[in-house]
Amino acid sequence: MTSSLRFLMCSPDHYDVDYVINPWMEGNIHKSSRDRAVDQWRKLHNVIKDHAIVDLVTPQIGVPDMVFTANAGLVLGDIAVLSRFFHKERQGEEPFFKQWFEENGFTVHELPSELPFEGAGDALFDREGRCLWAGYGFRSELDSHPYLAKWLDVEVLSLRLMDERFYHLDTCFCPLQDGYLLYYPPAFDAYSNRLIELRIPPEKRLVVAEADAANFACNSVNIDDIVIMNKASDDLKKRISDAGFRVIETPLTEFLKAGGAAKCLTLRVTEPVRVELHGSAAIESRMIRLDGHLLDSGLINRALDIVVEAGGSFQVLNFNLGVQRQSTSSAEVKVTAPSHDVMETIMSQLIDLGALPPPQEVCDCHLETVVQDGVAPDDFYVTTIYPTQIRMNNEWVTVDKQRMDAAIALSADSETAECKLLRDLKTSDRVVVGVEGIRTVRKTESREQRNTQEFSFMGAGVSSERRVELVVEQIAWELRQIRDQGGRVVVSAGPVVIHTGGGEHLAHLVREGYVQALLGGNAIAVHDMEQSLMGTSLGVDMKRGVSVRGGHRHHLKVINMVRRYGSIAKTVEAGVLKKGILYECVRHHIPFSLAGSIRDDGPLPDTQMDLIQAQEEYARLIAGADMILMLSSMLHSIGVGNMTPAGVKMVCVDINPAVVTKLSDRGSVESVGVVTDVGLFLSLLVQQLDKLTHAYQVAQS
Ligand code: ARG
Repeated sequence: MTSSLRFLMCSPDHYDVDYVINPWMEGNIHKSSRDRAVDQWRKLHNVIKDHAIVDLVTPQIGVPDMVFTANAGLVLGDIAVLSRFFHKERQGEEPFFKQWFEENGFTVHELPSELPFEGAGDALFDREGRCLWAGYGFRSELDSHPYLAKWLDVEVLSLRLMDERFYHLDTCFCPLQDGYLLYYPPAFDAYSNRLIELRIPPEKRLVVAEADAANFACNSVNIDDIVIMNKASDDLKKRISDAGFRVIETPLTEFLKAGGAAKCLTLRVTEPVRVELHGSAAIESRMIRLDGHLLDSGLINRALDIVVEAGGSFQVLNFNLGVQRQSTSSAEVKVTAPSHDVMETIMSQLIDLGALPPPQEVCDCHLETVVQDGVAPDDFYVTTIYPTQIRMNNEWVTVDKQRMDAAIALSADSETAECKLLRDLKTSDRVVVGVEGIRTVRKTESREQRNTQEFSFMGAGVSSERRVELVVEQIAWELRQIRDQGGRVVVSAGPVVIHTGGGEHLAHLVREGYVQALLGGNAIAVHDMEQSLMGTSLGVDMKRGVSVRGGHRHHLKVINMVRRYGSIAKTVEAGVLKKGILYECVRHHIPFSLAGSIRDDGPLPDTQMDLIQAQEEYARLIAGADMILMLSSMLHSIGVGNMTPAGVKMVCVDINPAVVTKLSDRGSVESVGVVTDVGLFLSLLVQQLDKLTHAYQVAQS
C-alpha cells in the first residue's frame, strides 16, 4: 500500500446474473460461475490493496449487483450523495449503502424520489478534482446534476450517453492523473464530444477503439500512475504507457456478464477536495405550456421527444386532461437542458410546435441589428410555415409574409415584422434572435378533424391504389369550388406529366380555368411543345409509345424554334404553336415561371436562369394561392413547399413515395400525398371534373 487512498468494495458472495437491466446481461442469466467470480474479484482486490486501503461493505442476499459499489453513491470529502437506482431490481441496495455511509461518518444527501442517479458509475471527478463529469441518458437523470453541483460545491459537466452498451459513464469514460482521459467517443452525442474536446487537449485524449471499449478498457481504476483494467489490446496498452502510466490487467470476465468490470467493482471514497473551487452546473431549466388536443394529436409525445432527442430532460408538472372528446388538454412541462445552447435548440423546436412560456414569463422578443448585408446575426430565429407572432412592447404582433427558413425582420418604425430571406437582409435591419417572445399559432387539431377531414378533403397522409380515386374526387370538388369562388390554384409540374401522357389533361385544366399559375422548369415546357409540334416526348411517339428515329433531337429542334421566335408567347402568336399546356397558358393569360437548372438544354428564352430571380417569380405567383397541385417534380415541388405558408392546401402527386412523404409531411391536415402515375391521375381528375360540371351531358350519353 503506497497511498492513503481508500476504496469501497463488496465481495461477490451473493453475486449472480439474476435479471436483465443492461445489454450485457442478456443471455447471461445464471451463466456466471460463482467460483470464478470470487477468484477474479479477489485478484482485483489484491491489486488494489497493493496501492490503497480497501473498505468492505457486507454483501446482502437478494441484491446480486451490490458488488458494483461504484453505484453506491458519489463521495466527496465527508459528503455522500446516495444513489437512487433507475431499475427496481437494484433499489434494494440503497439502504445498505446508506447505512455504510452513515456508519463511516459521511453526511448522506438523498435525491428527491423519482430522480434517478447511479452514483460514481455515472459521475467521475477529474483526477485533480477540478470538475465532475456527470453522465445522463440511461440510468441517471439530467435533473440530478444541479443537486450534485450544490451539495458537492463542484462544477458539473453533463455528458449524454447514447449507446446502451455504455449505459453508465464509467463504462466509456475514465479520467486519469495529469489531465489524461481514456474514453470511447461514439458513446456520446456530438454536443458532449465537443464539451470533452473543449476541456481536454488533444494530446491528453486517449481514444479507445470499440473492441477495447467492449472489453471494458474504459472501466479502469486509476491510482497514481497505474491503470487497472480487465484487458486491453497491445495498441491501447502502448498508448497508455506512452502517456506515462502502467497498465495492470486482471481478468474480470465473470463480471462483464453483468455489464461491469474493475471500476464498477470499486468506489473511491477519498476524492480530492478543492476548497478554492466552487460549484456550478451549466444546466438550465424552463417551463413551457402546451394547449390543445395534446393526446389525440400526439402533440405531447412530439414535444417530449423533441426535448429528449436534443439532449434535454423533462418533468410533466401539471397535466389537465380534457375529459370530453371535444375538450382540449393543457400541460405544464419543466424542460431541463445541459447548457444554454441546447436549451435554445430545444425551445426553438418547441415554439415551432406551438409551446408557450407560462404567462408570468412572457417577455418581449430579443432583437439584434444586421451588420452585413445578406447575413443574419448568429442566433437568429429560423421561421417555419406556421403563422408566427412576436412580442413587442408587451403585445403580440403577427409576422407578415410567413414562410419557412427565413429570419424575422422588423420594419423601420418597429410597427410590423416580416419573414425575410437571408439574402434580402440589409445592414441596420433589426432581426429577432434567441427564443424569447416568439410563438407560433397552431390550429388545434382534434381526433374528429383528423379522422373526418380525411373524407371531406385533406387528411395528411399518403394515398395509393384504391384511395387514389377517392382523393381525386375530393380534389376535383375542391378545384371546382375554388374556381367558382374566384380563388387561386397554382400548379407546379415536371416533364413526367408529358412523358406519362398527362399533357393534354393539364392543358384542359388550364383551358377550363382551373389553373391560375404554372410553375416548372425548362423541361416541362420543352417536352410539352415537343409533343404539340412533333408528337413526341423525349423522342418517344406519344400515340404509339415507341421511339422515333432521330427523335432524341426533337427537343433541341423545338428549343431552337422557340429561340428563333424569341419566346413561347411569340411562337404562339406566330401561329406555330397551336396546342398544349404552354399554348393554353399563353392563350388564357395564365402566368407561368420556368426556373432553370444545371441540366437544362437550350434553354428556352423564357427559362429564368437567374435562380434568385426565379425564386422571386415563384414566390410572387404562389402568393394568395388556395391550393397548390404539385405534379411529379421533386425539385420544383420542394422549392414551392419551402415558400408556402401553412394553410395552403397542397396536393403532391408522384410515383415515388419518398417525394410524396417529404411534401405531405407538414404535420397538419392541409396536405395530401398521392402515390400514383401522374398521367393517370390527371386523366382521372379531368374525368371527374367533367362529371361535376357536365352532369347533364354525362347522364344523357
Ligand atoms: N448489472 C449492473 C447494472 O446494470 C452493473 C453495474 C455496473 N456498474 C457500473 N458502475 N458501471 O446496474
